[in-house]
Amino acid sequence: VIRSTVTGCGSFLPEKILTNDDLSKMVDTSDEWIVQRTGIQQRHVAAEGQMTSDLALEAAKRALESAGRDAQEIDTIILATATPDNTFPATAVTVQANLGIYHGAAFDVHAVCSGFVYALTTADAYIRAGLSKRCLVIGAETFSRILDWTDRTTCVLFGDGAGAVLVEASEGEGTTADRGVLTSHLRSDGRHKEKLFVDGGPSSTGTVGHLRMEGREVYKHAVGMITDVIEDAYKATGTTSEDLDWFIPHQANKRIIDASAKKLGIAPEKVVTTVQHHGNTSAASIPLALDTAVRDGRVKKNDLVMLEAMGGGFTWGSVLLRW
Ligand code: ACO
Repeated sequence: VIRSTVTGCGSFLPEKILTNDDLSKMVDTSDEWIVQRTGIQQRHVAAEGQMTSDLALEAAKRALESAGRDAQEIDTIILATATPDNTFPATAVTVQANLGIYHGAAFDVHAVCSGFVYALTTADAYIRAGLSKRCLVIGAETFSRILDWTDRTTCVLFGDGAGAVLVEASEGEGTTADRGVLTSHLRSDGRHKEKLFVDGGPSSTGTVGHLRMEGREVYKHAVGMITDVIEDAYKATGTTSEDLDWFIPHQANKRIIDASAKKLGIAPEKVVTTVQHHGNTSAASIPLALDTAVRDGRVKKNDLVMLEAMGGGFTWGSVLLRW
């Protein structure tokens, strides 16, 4: 069977760091409140003129380098973002051009915080359908541009960043011992769209708008909803939480991550958490965490890795893969 194997990864955070103390000078908040409720200690913020495509490009270059591949060997770019450079064209085509690639296809996927899981699932489907052999999957965001910096209930939670993986077609036996994506499960339910949304857009207000959120509702659903897609992954592969080597969830906040792992019976030492360093970077958060754990030697070849995300829409999903 055709499998989609991850052959490289990379990530990038803009240089400028905003600490909790910095934020406490902008809104009525404190380091203590933010750390206690979210685990977040700092976030990175893009410089003026530094766009989502710029962060994506750096992450993509690092992923190519780690895979030992040249940009010309890539036939598809799928970029997940909720903060594109422009309403159109897709940010993926800017990355494609900036990598000097003038062949193949590039497009964006939009599922907010679940974007990377959606994009990786799309790449896997393309590869298994024979539409792509080598696909760059990127999650990149500049949420700093859509935050209401006077609203302490949201502005402390998010940050900017990018992560990327290179996915390549490979041959597998069709068992869970194969390297690559083993199973993916995506869900959405638009009845919840007003719990986390941006109050603007080209077809509604003609403006960009700001992020609005019912924090408590999102928290409740984030922990509750992901269980089904994880159990679907176990069912499809005959695996259990015990079999996982690593659980790499969307990095929204530490309380959600810890509560989810506990509910799923995943041991704390198997959970990769990086949210403390960069806040919630939406579609970039899973590849940022994955790249960290690969580079520090935690995630090793043949490890069983569960990726999981939940975000605006609501959208949610899981990808089980063997590294
Ligand atoms: N600093 C200080 N006080 C604050 C801040 C802040 N930054 N923000 C809110 N407060 C205050 C509130 O005004 C409230 O005060 P009050 O009691 O006087 O009214 C008090 O703190 C408690 O507010 P709650 O909203 O009830 O606090 P809660 O314990 O629910 O924590 C939080 C809020 C952290 C947002 C939590 O609900 C949460 O984690 N929600 C999930 C949100 C999330 O991660 N979204 C990311 C996008 S979705 C995703 O990626 C899954």
